[in-house]
Amino acid sequence: MPVVRLLSARDVRVALPMPAAIAAVLRAFAELQRGRAVLPPRTHLDLPDQQGVALFMPSLLPETGSLGFKAITLFDRNPAIGLPGIQAVVVVFDAPTGQPRALLDGTTLTALRTGAGSAVATDLLARPDACQAAVFGAGPQGRTQLEAVCCVRPIRRAWVVDPDRATAHRFAEEMSSGLGLPVEVASSGAEALREAEIVCTATVSARPVFDDADLRPGTHVNAIGSYKPHVQEVPSATVARAKVVVDHLESALAETGDLLAPISQGVFSAESIHAELGELVLGTKPGRQNAEEITLYKSVGVAVMDLAAAAAALERAEELGLGASFEL
Ligand SMILES: NC(=O)c1ccc[n+]([C@@H]2O[C@H](COP(=O)([O-])OP(=O)(O)OC[C@H]3O[C@@H](n4cnc5c(N)ncnc54)[C@H](O)[C@@H]3O)[C@@H](O)[C@H]2O)c1
Repeated sequence: MPVVRLLSARDVRVALPMPAAIAAVLRAFAELQRGRAVLPPRTHLDLPDQQGVALFMPSLLPETGSLGFKAITLFDRNPAIGLPGIQAVVVVFDAPTGQPRALLDGTTLTALRTGAGSAVATDLLARPDACQAAVFGAGPQGRTQLEAVCCVRPIRRAWVVDPDRATAHRFAEEMSSGLGLPVEVASSGAEALREAEIVCTATVSARPVFDDADLRPGTHVNAIGSYKPHVQEVPSATVARAKVVVDHLESALAETGDLLAPISQGVFSAESIHAELGELVLGTKPGRQNAEEITLYKSVGVAVMDLAAAAAALERAEELGLGASFEL
C-alpha cells in the first residue's frame, strides 16, 4: 500500500522557506520553457451562487519526479465571514510509478509560490539598486509578495495600500517586525508610488489600483491579482508602455483583464508581450535593458509553480520527518 504524507500549513512553511520556494519556482519556469513540463489548461468551475470559482490545475514535472494537481477555491465573500478567500490542496504522485505520495496544504503553498514567481521576475526585471517597495492589497498574497521581493533586493522601506484600513495597519505592523524594515500605510496609490521602485499588486479589485501617471520611470511592477477577463488591476496605459513579461503566454491571454482590456481598447497587442518568464530565466530574451523602462510581470499562476514548490517542500519534509504518514 502506498504511504502518503500529509503536510499542514505549518509543515509547508517549515519545509519551504521563501528562498527554497524561489529556487524551486525558477527551475519550474526553466523546465517549462525547455518543453520538459506538461501543463494542460486548468479547468474553471464557476460558482455564481457562492460568488466563487474552483480551479483544477494538473501538471507533470519530470525533473522533480512528480506529477500532480492543485484544487483551489476562490470565494469572494469568505473574507467578510472570517474565512480565507483562497483555500487549496495539492496532491503529489510519484511520476515514474504513479503512486500517490502526498497531500499538502495548498493555501500556504499558493501564497509561497506566487511570491516566489514575483521574486524570480523582480530579480530579472527590477533595477539592481531598487530598495523601496509598494504593495497594493494587504491579504495573504500581498504578504508573500513583499517577503519574496525582500529575498532578491535589499528592501529598506515599504508602503502598503488597502481600502480596508484595519487590514492595512495589521499588515504594516506584522510585516515591519517580521521583515525588520519600516512598512507604512499609504493613504493613496500616489503616496505609495512616490518613492517605490518595485510595486506588487495583489488585490481583489476589478479596476486599476493606481494611476499610470504616478509610476516613476524605472519601476518594476508584479501584477498577480487578476486572473479573470473582466478584472483589471493595472492601468491600460501602463501595460501599453511597459516591457511586459508573463508567466505563461497562453494562460495569460486566455484569463487576465490586465492584458485583455488594453488589447480590446486597441492600445496593446499580444505580439507586444516581450517574453515568458522562462525565456528570461534561460537568458534567451533580455530582462531590463535600461534604468528608465517600466517593466511588468503579469502572473495568472500556473500549475508547475505549485508542483515544483510541493515537490521541494515534500523532499525537505521527508528529511525533517515533518507531517503525518498513513497507508492508503
Ligand atoms: N497570480 C497568481 O498566481 C495568484 C495566486 C493567488 C492569488 N491570486 C489573486 O491575488 C489576489 C489577492 O489574493 P489574497 O488571497 O491576498 O486576497 P484577499 O481577499 O485576502 O486580500 C485582497 C486585499 O485586496 C484589498 N483591495 C481591494 N481593492 C483594493 C484596491 N483598489 N487597492 C488596494 N487594495 C485593495 C482588499 O481590501 C483585501 O485586503 C486575488 O485576486 C487572488 O485571486 C493570484
